[in-house]
Amino acid sequence: MTKFLVDKAANIPQDHLRNVTLGGKEILIVNQKGRYLALNNICSHAGAELHEGLLENNELVCPWHGAKWNIETGELVWFTQDLENLESYNVIVENDRVFVEI
Ligand code: FES
Repeated sequence: MTKFLVDKAANIPQDHLRNVTLGGKEILIVNQKGRYLALNNICSHAGAELHEGLLENNELVCPWHGAKWNIETGELVWFTQDLENLESYNVIVENDRVFVEI
């Protein structure tokens, strides 16, 4: 597992959906009420970039067909068919910098 620097914590505002490429993977970073979370940014249905979707409380809504994902775990909350859950990653905050382990 490798630890990648995302950015300074101050540069990731609350409720903003941010995409970064780390270790060749597209990663979604969210600051949810001061907690930083990281998931695979690519919807497992048809490949939408999830940072273009919406954050509704604890759920991430896909911009293309509306699949809903648990923002903390990457588990599918709702869709018309079964989908693979999104991979979630460990986030570390050190000295006001946000890192993701991949
Ligand atoms: S691409 Fe996300 S629900 Fe279809």
